[in-house]
Amino acid sequence: MSHDHDKLERDPLTQDPMLNHEYDGIRELDNPLPGWWLGTFYITIVFAAFYFTWHQIVGDGHLVQASYEKEWAAVQAADQAKAAQQMASISDEALLKASKDTATLAAAKDKYTSTCASCHGPDGGGLIGPNLTDDHWINGDGKPMAIYKVIKEGVTAKGMPAWGPVLSEGDNFKLAAYIVSLKGSKATNPKAPQGVKY
Ligand code: HEC
Repeated sequence: MSHDHDKLERDPLTQDPMLNHEYDGIRELDNPLPGWWLGTFYITIVFAAFYFTWHQIVGDGHLVQASYEKEWAAVQAADQAKAAQQMASISDEALLKASKDTATLAAAKDKYTSTCASCHGPDGGGLIGPNLTDDHWINGDGKPMAIYKVIKEGVTAKGMPAWGPVLSEGDNFKLAAYIVSLKGSKATNPKAPQGVKY
């Protein structure tokens, strides 16, 4: 709607043009929005139409869902690469060596007590979880890497949580070294052997 300013009544004080309606004695000045403001506003509407069409309907590889999936795949690939790199630096030898390092074992024992003892007993003799001091293993062959893997990946169906997502890589390593060091130790109240003897 356009107004013909010249035909409008004017405010007696300011001489500004006034609109022709009145509510309870209150009048309104005719202050159209500035051209630059309206122009920008209309541009945003046109922009939104193109933006929506491109990013939600046709956009070749630019759809919100598609770009999310692309980024997520990249994140997962990076995670896998990192995990593979970490695995490469961990070996039976490295774990065996760490299992004889007193500083490593002291730190790991604290972690074991707070995280693992509730199921495996304070000295590894076993409670809900199996005895970790004997030479019988349900999962893997009891080699350092097999122990490391069980701790990291867990046996969730059997009640052993996966600690990889919970513990730091360093803690996972130290705990595996600690369990390696328990082998042959005498637990006070050992649980009967489970699994296969290695
Ligand atoms: C909620 C109870 C629970 C907690 C906490 C727990 N475990 Fe276990 N763990 C189990 C059970 C149950 C098994 C046996 C899984 C099976 O039967 O395959 C097991 C198995 C294992 C095994 C393999 C034993 C074998 O004979 O195959 C290792 C090694 C182990 N746990 C280490 C750890 C460490 C290290 C921690 C602490 C970070 C830990 N667990 C915390 C319940 C637990």
